[in-house]
Amino acid sequence: SFWLSPSPGKLPRPRMVVRSNAVSTPMAADMRAGLAVDGGSDLKMILSYVDTFPTGNEKGLFYALDLGGTNFRVLRVQLGGKDERVIATEFEQVTIPQELMFGTSEELFDFIACGLANFAKKEGGKFHLPSGRKREIGFTFSFPVKQTSIDSGILMKWTKGFAVSGTAGRDVVACLNEAMERQGLDMQVSALVNDTVGTLAGARYWDDDVMVAVILGTGTNACYVERTDVIPKLQGQMSSSGRTIISTEWGAFSNGLPLTEFDRDMDAASINPGEQIFEKTISGMYLGEIVRRVLLKMAEAGALFGKYVPEKLSTPFILRTPDLCAMQQDNSDHLDAVGAILYDVTGVKSDLSVRKMVVEVCDTIVKRGGRLAGAGIVGILQKMEEDSKGLIFGKRTVVAMDGGLYENYPQYRRYLKEAVTELLGLEMSKNVVIEHSKDGSGIGAALLAASNSKY
Ligand code: BG6
Ligand code: GLC
Repeated sequence: SFWLSPSPGKLPRPRMVVRSNAVSTPMAADMRAGLAVDGGSDLKMILSYVDTFPTGNEKGLFYALDLGGTNFRVLRVQLGGKDERVIATEFEQVTIPQELMFGTSEELFDFIACGLANFAKKEGGKFHLPSGRKREIGFTFSFPVKQTSIDSGILMKWTKGFAVSGTAGRDVVACLNEAMERQGLDMQVSALVNDTVGTLAGARYWDDDVMVAVILGTGTNACYVERTDVIPKLQGQMSSSGRTIISTEWGAFSNGLPLTEFDRDMDAASINPGEQIFEKTISGMYLGEIVRRVLLKMAEAGALFGKYVPEKLSTPFILRTPDLCAMQQDNSDHLDAVGAILYDVTGVKSDLSVRKMVVEVCDTIVKRGGRLAGAGIVGILQKMEEDSKGLIFGKRTVVAMDGGLYENYPQYRRYLKEAVTELLGLEMSKNVVIEHSKDGSGIGAALLAASNSKY
């Protein structure tokens, strides 16, 4: 049970014990089931159609669009081939307006195409393409997409709080093309990728040992390099390289995942109940909300914030994961930053003992998230090792990480790495390198557009 029985007159304290191999083993089993047949498990194990990696020889000017996290980004990447590699990257970034997350497909794609058009205008005639050639785009679209080729794919469903009408079931590249046409923009998508796949390709450009990429941000997902001969659902269609990248969509994992009443209540109140359960326990969109729910229960059960339960604390998502992070970085004697955030969220002044307790709750939830994410990584590595006998743990293997949660939350990062070392043991973990690959997914998408160029 999540709760230790409170002694009379004392506040109940949360307790969390994560038995992590109870996660990595079912994760590996679900991966196999998803590779066997479409719909074989909660893990969709999506074929990315990325069978070869950027070589370093890619040349020319490419654009990248990155939609899926908190922000929408558009990038221009100039690739110089073997000696010069990435010559220049320029980008613009905007936060996705809340109303677009609940609007229509046309509105969302018009917003993207318009951002791209404005950015492309600033190119300022610096680059000349041979006539008849269109500018090519690598499109990072970070939602579950059933790829039908390297440059097309059907949105299966929205995640991460998006509920845009009219996109699910449609080819998202066609949606973008229609919007570009409405903007009078003559560009074309040469690669459609998930953010994990873009991150893997981007990181692999610099380091051949990258085998896995994980995003821990608003949402979460992992992809990895798989042998085509162990993918039964390919029905014998081997790629020429014998490998392909699989996007696991591990956010949907739930097999035996230990859940608390807070997880269950948050899930029930969400716009996608019963879905993305792993994502809801480990990713940035949800950690703050879980802590809010724990604090609310503590306030109701033990007068944490005084006699009355602060009304504001009942507002869903009022406490955000960056708030937890800021509270956990507060080293001041009186935890002044914690006090200020709690005042914002509850409207009530808190004393030091309450502040300490709140930090303990944040740490408990963040520790669980980080450790579960670590266990998930171990599940992927174990599956790869089982099929490759020594090729994963017997040599240097890099896991490329990105996303706001991983990048900005030191405690989360530490818990994740500790869990990986603990689960694998010192011997096996010594070759596993967990590395931040900053903003690699945009460049990765541009590189994949280059290696899948139409020209
Ligand atoms: C970025 C990656 O750094 O992190 C994106 O380049 C990815 O492709 C994103 O989607 C996740 O961001 P967020 O806002 O969810 O933390
Ligand atoms: C969500 C999406 C997935 C994406 C992840 C990280 O889980 O479904 O496609 O990779 O978030 O952004």
